[in-house]
Amino acid sequence: MSHHRHGWPFLLLSLLLSPFESWLPCGYAGGEVGAGHRVLLYPHSAKVSSIVSIKYRTGYHFQPPKNWINGPMYINGKYHLFYQYNPGSVIPGNKTWAHSVSTDLINWLRVEPALDRTEPYDAKGCWSGSVTILADGRPAIFYTGADGVKNQAQCIAFPSNDSDPYLREWTKLDSNPVIRPDGPGLNPSQFRDPTTGWTGPDGEWRIAVGAELNGYSAALLYKSQDFVHWSRVDHPLYSSNSSTMWECPDFFWALPGNSSGLDLSAEVPNGAKHVLKVSLDSCDKYMIGVYDLEHDRFVPDTVVDDRRLWQRIDYGNYYASKSFFDAKKGRRIIWGWANESDSSSDDVAKGWAGIQAIPKRIWLDSYGKQLMQWPVEEVESLRRNGISHQGIELKKGDLFQIQGTDTLQANVEIEFEPRTLDKADPFDPSWLLDTENHCREADATAPGGLGPFGLVVLASENLEEHTAVHFRVYKAQHKHMILMCSDLRRSSLRPGLYMPAYGGFFEFELEKERKISLRTLIDRSAVESFGGSGRVCIMARVYPVALVNDRGARMYVFNNGTSTVMVSQLKAWSMRRALMNVKKG
Ligand SMILES: *[C@@H]1O[C@H](CO)[C@@H](O)[C@H](O)[C@H]1NC(C)=O
Ligand SMILES: *[C@@H]1O[C@H](CO)[C@@H](O)[C@H](O)[C@H]1NC(C)=O
Ligand SMILES: *[C@@H]1O[C@H](CO)[C@@H](O)[C@H](O)[C@H]1NC(C)=O
Ligand SMILES: *[C@@H]1O[C@H](CO)[C@@H](O)[C@H](O)[C@H]1NC(C)=O
Ligand SMILES: *[C@@H]1O[C@H](CO)[C@@H](O)[C@H](O)[C@H]1NC(C)=O
Ligand SMILES: *[C@@H]1O[C@H](CO)[C@@H](O)[C@H](O)[C@H]1NC(C)=O
Repeated sequence: MSHHRHGWPFLLLSLLLSPFESWLPCGYAGGEVGAGHRVLLYPHSAKVSSIVSIKYRTGYHFQPPKNWINGPMYINGKYHLFYQYNPGSVIPGNKTWAHSVSTDLINWLRVEPALDRTEPYDAKGCWSGSVTILADGRPAIFYTGADGVKNQAQCIAFPSNDSDPYLREWTKLDSNPVIRPDGPGLNPSQFRDPTTGWTGPDGEWRIAVGAELNGYSAALLYKSQDFVHWSRVDHPLYSSNSSTMWECPDFFWALPGNSSGLDLSAEVPNGAKHVLKVSLDSCDKYMIGVYDLEHDRFVPDTVVDDRRLWQRIDYGNYYASKSFFDAKKGRRIIWGWANESDSSSDDVAKGWAGIQAIPKRIWLDSYGKQLMQWPVEEVESLRRNGISHQGIELKKGDLFQIQGTDTLQANVEIEFEPRTLDKADPFDPSWLLDTENHCREADATAPGGLGPFGLVVLASENLEEHTAVHFRVYKAQHKHMILMCSDLRRSSLRPGLYMPAYGGFFEFELEKERKISLRTLIDRSAVESFGGSGRVCIMARVYPVALVNDRGARMYVFNNGTSTVMVSQLKAWSMRRALMNVKKG
């Protein structure tokens, strides 16, 4: 699935192709809000207006030009987002921990970088990690230092001044690195991304580190009494022969059917399930299981050898996510990174690259079988000019234009209610092996028994350019299987873009639920969709020419399936701009 052919080979690619060369993501110069009027660095065709346009910059998706999430946390009334940042360039490399602070997860102040490359052990970069809040309420950063030859080791930093409400300055421990890749089977160039810590029944701290162990992937387990001195447990928390390296492991627990989050440092309640998330193959995948406390191991409910079948946090452009417990609202929030889908020369011209997906509440469904995700409620504060429709009937071939809201920055929520389920086509489980291929074959123009129906966004006047987000309903043995696609293949006339047809399936009790919901957040070059109340998420990056034209873009609901579908409810809002990384005075 390594389909990065251009742009920056982010983490995984480097693992497969060039471990020492280019695994660092991103870079950006400047970082001023609204640095829109840039000089064009190279000529562009008259027909296709420049990609440098400020109109592609997101209005409410976090984007200080260049980033990759790193241990967001909530402490003392503030959310802190740390992210990977190259302060000197739009090219990947020289990673530091940049730092932004917010009280609502929407509006952000930019403060000084938390970590810079100051020591021999982090000379090539302060790479990803996480934050743990210790028993005395003090936060600790755990990060990966990459030395002069990009060998990796884990390091710790504490706030320099605990009474600074912004926690601007951090002090690295003298004893860094506190965890080195010592021991049989470890590869020092594949050893990174420590998780948030948790305590076991013996009261000792644990963390997991992504690593290659004997050529396979592992979440290595380390223990400590004081959070400073660490020793490796003789077995990993979990490992697998199905892949070679996991990045950004994330480990947390949740109560099935309860959307509250659980604090990792509190006792694990009865009935809790454990989730291990790992980043590989350009996407974030997860397993649900239990944590065997006696043996200190994660045990998945089912071991799936074929990693193409692992469940995903998001089926689109989404990587290196981290979750954290938000003590203010008692929820778990997950946050991931979406890179650009243009070329790196486009990025050089734009001067920025990379955004964060919307922060999402994350929890387990009532069967404990899959994660559910929904944009944090704070996003709703940006809504204005709401419109709504009820009872729109969509027969085969119908297209209904949504008017009255901004089409470039919008939040659309739709409930589709099939008139009858009789015509749903039979499901073939082999499609699960390559959902993108299935979205290409069964696309928005190919009529099925029930579907495709859905939403068309960022469309030019004649639909020459458009992004289609749609569903198709299949009948499986006991339930329905719903395919959700976000098809970018006609999203732009611009040459040289990565324009796949993303897709994911979810199991659904459609006979009982009757309605399939779709929520899409449109934010200029970002189209982020949530299907089936958050069962499938797809983040996408698009650069339509229509978006920068004065004629603007259009938005429709459509049905190209044989069966009639009702839109029982359609709501849409324009979305205000958030205060994005304003420099703190
Ligand atoms: C980044 O973007 C490229 C296309 O531009 C894509 O192929 C690649 O998978 C992306 N990387 C990640 C980690 O998602
Ligand atoms: C990293 O920084 C060095 C100077 O410290 C510079 O020469 C190099 O070009 C930078 N690399 C990137 C990718 O920004
Ligand atoms: C620590 O932060 C507080 C609050 O901002 C400030 O008043 C104090 O001067 C700082 N102390 C030092 C040593 O910088
Ligand atoms: C990986 O494969 C080897 C050889 O088949 C086996 O001994 C080992 O237990 C496997 N490890 C995991 C984590 O499955
Ligand atoms: C959900 O979990 C929270 C935190 O453990 C708990 O306080 C709450 O009572 C639970 N809610 C339900 C409906 O079980
Ligand atoms: C619906 O099907 C028609 C006929 O194939 C096609 O022209 C149209 O573009 C399709 N709608 C969408 C949104 O793809």
